[in-house]
Amino acid sequence: MSDYLIAPSILSADFAKLGEEVDNVLASGADIVHFDVMDNHYVPNLTIGPLVCEALRKHGVTADIDVHMMVKPVDRITPDFAKAGATYITFHPEGSEHIDRSLQLIRDHGCKSGLVFNPATPLSHLDYVLDKVDMILIMSVNPGFGGQSFIPAAMDKLRACRKMIDDAGLEIRLEIDGGVKAENIAEIAAAGADTFVAGSGIFGKGKDSDPNRYDTILGQMREKLAKV
Ligand code: DX5
Ligand code: ZN
Repeated sequence: MSDYLIAPSILSADFAKLGEEVDNVLASGADIVHFDVMDNHYVPNLTIGPLVCEALRKHGVTADIDVHMMVKPVDRITPDFAKAGATYITFHPEGSEHIDRSLQLIRDHGCKSGLVFNPATPLSHLDYVLDKVDMILIMSVNPGFGGQSFIPAAMDKLRACRKMIDDAGLEIRLEIDGGVKAENIAEIAAAGADTFVAGSGIFGKGKDSDPNRYDTILGQMREKLAKV
């Protein structure tokens, strides 16, 4: 795979100047914006919703926005995110009573659909819906918080998932989320991921006063990926 995409998670950005943070990280070469939605119900944290997605679009963000919904239920909020300008909408199977319907609903609203797998969630949820997903997101931490450590078992899951996608010959992005840094990104890519979410690994680096800090960290990640 040569089309690696880096997706900064804005969960670790400075929310008081979110538009500027997103502009800066995209100008530094990030590809897509990872947008973590937490509902204080499916996960024990509360973050941002469709209004913030819409505000980023109005601010002028044209890059893909990858909405990672850590919410339960899923379907009620899907049309709102589509209207707010989401490109991808992904959700956890545990958040939906009817996975097939939730995936279809996302596509019916003109967005790309995806399923997200917690560390203990089996890939068998994909068995009958592989043709209905545009993205598979493997969690390498338990969802809810930024800044956690990468769980090594995610590597085997990535390899299994890569094989599943390649065997089916489908165009599905394989995304990894949690504990991704410049130090481990090459190994993660070698295991089959092509889309890399990084929150603290990007926004937590360097000094606020350094205008080039995102150039530096994204440059390091690209350099490692170029050698895979
Ligand atoms: C965790 C979120 C992640 C989080 C990753 O529930 O889904 O997207 O922001 O943060 P880091 O990269 O710091 O592990
Ligand atoms: Zn996420």
